[in-house]
Amino acid sequence: MQISITKTTTPKTLIEEDKLGFGKFFSDHMFIMDYEYTKGWHNARIVPFGNISLHPASTVLHYGSEIFEGLKAYRTKSGEIRLFRPMENIRRMNASAERMCLPKINEEDFLQALKTFVELEKDFVPHSFGTSLYLRPYMFGNDETLGVHTVKRATFMIIASPSGSYYAEGINPVKIMIESEDVRAVKGGTGAVKCGGNYAASNRAGEKASKKGYSQVLWLDGVHRKYIEEVGAMNVMFKIDGEIVTPMLTGSILPGITRKSCIEVLKSMGYNVSERLLSVDELVDALKSGKLEEAWGCGTAAVVSPIGKLFYNDVEYDVNGGQIGEVTKKLYDTLTGIQWGEVEDTYGWIYKICD
Ligand code: PLP
Ligand code: COI
Repeated sequence: MQISITKTTTPKTLIEEDKLGFGKFFSDHMFIMDYEYTKGWHNARIVPFGNISLHPASTVLHYGSEIFEGLKAYRTKSGEIRLFRPMENIRRMNASAERMCLPKINEEDFLQALKTFVELEKDFVPHSFGTSLYLRPYMFGNDETLGVHTVKRATFMIIASPSGSYYAEGINPVKIMIESEDVRAVKGGTGAVKCGGNYAASNRAGEKASKKGYSQVLWLDGVHRKYIEEVGAMNVMFKIDGEIVTPMLTGSILPGITRKSCIEVLKSMGYNVSERLLSVDELVDALKSGKLEEAWGCGTAAVVSPIGKLFYNDVEYDVNGGQIGEVTKKLYDTLTGIQWGEVEDTYGWIYKICD
């Protein structure tokens, strides 16, 4: 694929790394590619970061025809810039495209776009452990008509945001409210893919949790309001009476790359990992009897985020005395160690971009 590059004439000054936060600052450029059903994907280009112009009838503005991904570029101590399992994001984006009737992207072209873009933006990859250049590939339907149908035109973009930790708490345990009214997703819907509408619909519960002093919600399934699905925009795992349990992928849960990596790491450490249905009643029983030893969320942005408190039906329960648990800590250390180059990658997960 031919990618044209137009460099900015007004380069930004880098932000101090301890002031980055998550998703607030952006690099100098962005990647764009257009799709037209008669031509396929064309006009791949990297241009200065800036506003884009859309027709007022553009599909995305009316019918939410949008999908996205999230992955990070990491800098090791020796200065290598690398990605973590990028093919997984590429394949998931194409699975999202399939569900949302958006055009797929050739895997090699997608990888080339990521590589070329990150290499150009490498100075924006921060240096400290735990910081990264968060990459946001996204695609939206862009027909200039109000008809409701599969789009004939689409736009694919990648932007990059130098970021610190996702939660202000960092690796400190977060407080989570179990949500029993709103649901994030239903089987047959779009919960198993990464489309913007899922997140728009989840904000109300997030707001409610925040007003009660909780960082995020624990989602229950849409049919019975009974089975645990995810936590905020992350997958969730528990250690109950020695067993590691994570909700099975029933069709309304996003198949997280961190989730998949955690399962592989845990199994190689010798833990029993069950992907199964886990009811909120079983969880509350485990909380009451002290059998819930640990709970954590996992996702690209936060990596592993320990849960210190769970709130359900007006009762707040402590998890592991509000402290990060042993398995959570081991997982965090292993995954971040592999990502930032301090632990050997025996899995073949690292994709090197440049030195
Ligand atoms: N669940 C949801 C709803 C998400 O948005 C994400 C983030 O991408 C995840 C889970 C975790 O997925 P991953 O580990 O691939 O980042
Ligand atoms: C994640 O990476 O875990 C996320 O959920 C990203 C979020 C900002 C949508």
